[in-house]
Amino acid sequence: MSDGGIFRDEFPITERLNYLNNCSLTPMPRRAQAALDEYARLWSEWGGRAWYSHWMNELEALRADFATVLGADTDEIALQPGVSTALVAVASAIDYSERDTVVVADIDFPTDGHVFLAREHQGLKVRFVHSPDGVSVPLEAFAEAIDERTALVCTGHVYYASGALQDVAALARIAHAKGALLLVDAYQSIGAFPFDVHASGVDFLAGGTLKWLMGGPGMAFLYVRRELSPRLRPTALGWWSQTDPFSFDVQHLALPDTARRFEYGTPSVPTAYAARAGLSLLREVGIDRVRASHKRLSQGLVDGALSHGLRVRCPTDAERRTSIVTIVHPDPHRAVDALRARGVIVDSRPGVVRFSPHFFNTADEIDAAVTAMVEVSAARV
Ligand SMILES: Cc1ncc(COP(=O)(O)O)c(C=O)c1O
Repeated sequence: MSDGGIFRDEFPITERLNYLNNCSLTPMPRRAQAALDEYARLWSEWGGRAWYSHWMNELEALRADFATVLGADTDEIALQPGVSTALVAVASAIDYSERDTVVVADIDFPTDGHVFLAREHQGLKVRFVHSPDGVSVPLEAFAEAIDERTALVCTGHVYYASGALQDVAALARIAHAKGALLLVDAYQSIGAFPFDVHASGVDFLAGGTLKWLMGGPGMAFLYVRRELSPRLRPTALGWWSQTDPFSFDVQHLALPDTARRFEYGTPSVPTAYAARAGLSLLREVGIDRVRASHKRLSQGLVDGALSHGLRVRCPTDAERRTSIVTIVHPDPHRAVDALRARGVIVDSRPGVVRFSPHFFNTADEIDAAVTAMVEVSAARV
């Protein structure tokens, strides 16, 4: 009997396609459609009054939902339009006068470097730690790069192009021992692994709902460790970062001691509705079931690919990897198109075709994807 994915009815796309591109964008769950319909109804029927009757509560409930996923407290969460803006807020709050360097890995997502490179003209230095295999970065390499000039380390919890998991708790200990702070880009991990942000010891952690949280584009979050918020003064901010935005005091800044000081302006409300729907689905499925399905399905891809002589550029051990499997191909764009023609939806990154199954996928879909990839590789398309 085949391994049937769970909560498959939530995803109408599975009726038509073998959808294996969830680390890019999980398809819309039915309940997100319903939540967006509800948002539209409120906007239409209540107009501006919806802010006070519903939407402010919805935004606070979303902060609480994010906090629950992370094991954080609600006032350690700032809503953000994206991970890039979350990183900009943190970058703007750090004092670089005594420590002028930020450490980033050379396999990190581009925004993790760009946000700091943009400050080089102000004297900030960005030091890139080299990944020896393009898959992961040894902790020793970070330990060597972090010194008394390091203000901040910014790196991924899971590296986006290989799926490799970084031990951010160990990294936090290394950074802190040298007096540096740690900012984790967790876009590719939150919603895929059980994680307790307090236990990890990280200082800042950013993620969003596009991928494993199943809430679509346009909503993200920033966690700021409780003790840090009162000490840091972001310069990238807006009226929603004030203690009481509705005092409408243009002449003074009054920042709360919480992560709210890292918010900007009016958060996007429709995306908050979709985000809460995705998070409610994650709660129902349960993070342990998500992780178990990821290990099983991604291992099926790794084993299938290797048994047909294909090369992977991701950890082969499921414990060291999220549900991302990257298979080497000389022309990944064309391979992605050829796979799409066979009903298999994946994505590419330089040199690789990237597969990312979620809990709703089945073992049969994994087998079909391997067969299609073998054909595409043999045909050199
Ligand atoms: C690891 C990682 N960080 C950051 C981003 C981009 O975040 P945003 O577009 O919200 O700035 C992505 C994704 O697309 C990502 O995979």
